[in-house]
Amino acid sequence: QYTMALGKMKDLNEVGGVLLPKRVCDRWDQIWNFRARPDDLLIATYAKAGTTWIQEIVDMIQHDGDTEKCKRATTYLRHPFIEWIIYVARNAKDNLVSYYHFHRMNKNMPAPGTWEEFLEKFMAGQVLWGCWYDHVKGWWDAKENHCILYLFYEDLKEDPKREIQKVLQFLEKDLENVVLDKIIHHTTFEIMKDNPMANYTFQPPAVMDHSISPFMRKGTVGDWKNHFTVAQNEKFDEDYRKKMSRTSLTFRMEL
Ligand code: A3P
Repeated sequence: QYTMALGKMKDLNEVGGVLLPKRVCDRWDQIWNFRARPDDLLIATYAKAGTTWIQEIVDMIQHDGDTEKCKRATTYLRHPFIEWIIYVARNAKDNLVSYYHFHRMNKNMPAPGTWEEFLEKFMAGQVLWGCWYDHVKGWWDAKENHCILYLFYEDLKEDPKREIQKVLQFLEKDLENVVLDKIIHHTTFEIMKDNPMANYTFQPPAVMDHSISPFMRKGTVGDWKNHFTVAQNEKFDEDYRKKMSRTSLTFRMEL
């Protein structure tokens, strides 16, 4: 996703009602016909749900906690190789806030408009890479028939050790406790914010302007409370209940 994300994303088009960068639409056949090899690992997320975080965790696991090896290249150049999909989901409100700030700082993205306007577009699914509600529900259903580890940003935040152990189990990897502790430390928000291979500061300011809003912005659960007005929150909740009524999937909006 991020290899694609690094280019211009202002020219948009649609595939099946999902807004995508035009050049992604132009080669949609190629993407649609992609077949994973048996030893491929796919990481899937809605944008701003914690992609970079899980990428760093997986890379550290696959390199047995060797931080130097994990600094060999920036995140989007590092490719893990095992066969299943790990999915990370993040609650709608924090995901939306993070996406809004990402649109502000990433000059390749369409301008978000005001917070109120972006909120409406998010609820309508009229944002790049489509509708958050369909995304999280679609992958939730897909895990019934496919080998997918479905993780939550909020769980990772609450207890990284427990969640990283789930990833280890999924990858059938056994690591010593001291290595596990190293991975936990290396993938904390504070350390990743300082890691030039993970914090996207390698991007020229003309592309990502971290002075507007850093890529590693806050890394918390519940920041939405600093953005939603009471009226916006009520409207969002009512719409959310309708869209999420027929799924067993639930999210925590705070810890
Ligand atoms: P915020 O904007 O809320 O701070 P993605 O990698 O999918 O683009 O997601 C980016 C979001 O994940 C940002 O959220 C970023 O701060 C957060 N993030 C990245 N690494 C993290 C970590 N180690 N711990 C917690 N949050 C992290």
